[in-house]
Amino acid sequence: MARTGFVAGNWKMHGDLAQNRELLAAIVAGSQTLQNTSCAVCVPYPYLQQVQLMLEGSRVAWGGQNVSQHSHGAYTGEVSASMLADFGCQYVIVGHSERRTLYGEDNQSIAEKFCAAQKQSLLPILCVGETLEQREANETERVIAEQLDAVIDLAGIEAIKNSVIAYEPVWAIGTGKTATPQQAQDIHAFIRQRVATHSNEIAAAVQIVYGGSVKANNASELFAMPDIDGGLIGGASLVPAEFVSICLASQ
Ligand code: G3P
Repeated sequence: MARTGFVAGNWKMHGDLAQNRELLAAIVAGSQTLQNTSCAVCVPYPYLQQVQLMLEGSRVAWGGQNVSQHSHGAYTGEVSASMLADFGCQYVIVGHSERRTLYGEDNQSIAEKFCAAQKQSLLPILCVGETLEQREANETERVIAEQLDAVIDLAGIEAIKNSVIAYEPVWAIGTGKTATPQQAQDIHAFIRQRVATHSNEIAAAVQIVYGGSVKANNASELFAMPDIDGGLIGGASLVPAEFVSICLASQ
């Protein structure tokens, strides 16, 4: 069965109620014509109610950018998967490189977050990717294999069916240095092949999206590659016309 496209916007720590209203209205309008693809926005926690109210009934899904691996308890400042589900979230990003580098999240805790999300029927968007130093040391595949295997070991290969994998080379995030379509394709193919060692069926079905300086002017050539099913978009997701163009390119 042919995979459909998927584009998610990662707003990171951006937004305000007025700006969000404009952005969301433009995305809802632009998403009316989408076919064979789906889109979502992953927003800061305080905006989940606004996003739910504005997107409910639209073609646009929504989600969080992180989640606690714990279901509840004395974890000040944390947000659980059931709380995200309370606000209608369908997705949640786990293991973003900024969580790994700035907040010390490791492969094991990210695998636990992945499982906690699925326990509440959320679709985890599992981020994997290497740093420039790791790429230059020819460690890319080893790093990504470890990131992926930690989740498969804990959750089981069947769990990958209900997830999205996002390849985000750290050196391309927010830098304007987008991976070339072939660079990205090579790693997407590696990820799909790694999943195939457990299940050919799941490998063929799982959406693998690319993140790292995706813009309206490079999305089509990236998404044309056989193993790139869409994108995880940072900066461009805050610009209505850019984000809608990228979603259209994933059809
Ligand atoms: O999660 C997506 C993000 O890391 C990519 O950011 O600004 O390079 O599109 P950006």
